[in-house]
Amino acid sequence: MALDPFVAADFVKEAAPGFKPRVGIVLGSGLGGLAEKIDVIASLPFQDIPNFPQSSVEGHAGRLIIGRLGGMPVICMQGRIHLYEGVDPQDLAVPIRVFKLLGVEVLIVTNAAGSFHEEVGPGRLMLLNDHINFTSRNPLVGENDDRFGPRFFSMEEAYDPIFRDHFKAVAKELDIDLAEGVYLHYLGPNFETPAEIRAFKTLGADAVGMSTTPEVLVARHCGMRVAAISNITNLVAGLSKTKLSHEQTLECAKLAAEDLEKLIVIFLETLKRELLKSHLREDDNGDSQ
Ligand code: HPA
Repeated sequence: MALDPFVAADFVKEAAPGFKPRVGIVLGSGLGGLAEKIDVIASLPFQDIPNFPQSSVEGHAGRLIIGRLGGMPVICMQGRIHLYEGVDPQDLAVPIRVFKLLGVEVLIVTNAAGSFHEEVGPGRLMLLNDHINFTSRNPLVGENDDRFGPRFFSMEEAYDPIFRDHFKAVAKELDIDLAEGVYLHYLGPNFETPAEIRAFKTLGADAVGMSTTPEVLVARHCGMRVAAISNITNLVAGLSKTKLSHEQTLECAKLAAEDLEKLIVIFLETLKRELLKSHLREDDNGDSQ
């Protein structure tokens, strides 16, 4: 039986009564620092939230943080759950559906990834414009939950073109060299073999990692707009001069962490200005002044 997100959402709502997050953020390996910039209203360990899947990976704190960032009401997963941890893929729908039930309309996903391009090495950021789900797993397999979205839906422009333009403009303003490309989700937990990497290159991958596609699929299913950024921690197997390891991922994730934090904060500030101008109604979070 899949976990019921409504129970989890009710618990989170009670922790921050009346607060409606507009943006959901998922922080990848070694990127938890952004969470420290949030004006926290509530911070909930995953294990305290009923029906919430648990993360077991070092570098993933496993907390849901509710508050304000860049002036926007946000909810942030500090740490995420991966398919390679052996969870039921359907359980990965829960965090994103909790976001949806709380009122989130925009999802920002971050991850650590290996790059296929020598000129885009550790310390660089890559804006995702599409993905290849190479895991053969999908949280939406099984009976469709019509309360969230239709059985069949398009994944064209899943990575919102307007947000991509916004991110590129913000990166330019901040003088951050932002690459752009296609993310391939490899199940893991091992890093890829060089032969797999050669195969993925012919498939059109620009970056490879072990996360992100489940969250993006669930978000698009329920109509959220999505942006995603990879923090490049290494060149892919075969190109990298050092042996890949999780320690290296965490160490190199620090190189661009600050750039990524700045990029997201300024993006949220622009988004807030846009929302104030646009048709989207303001809510009771005190955003309308
Ligand atoms: N492969 C898969 N996952 C990763 C990598 C990689 O090269 N780097 C960081 N996460």
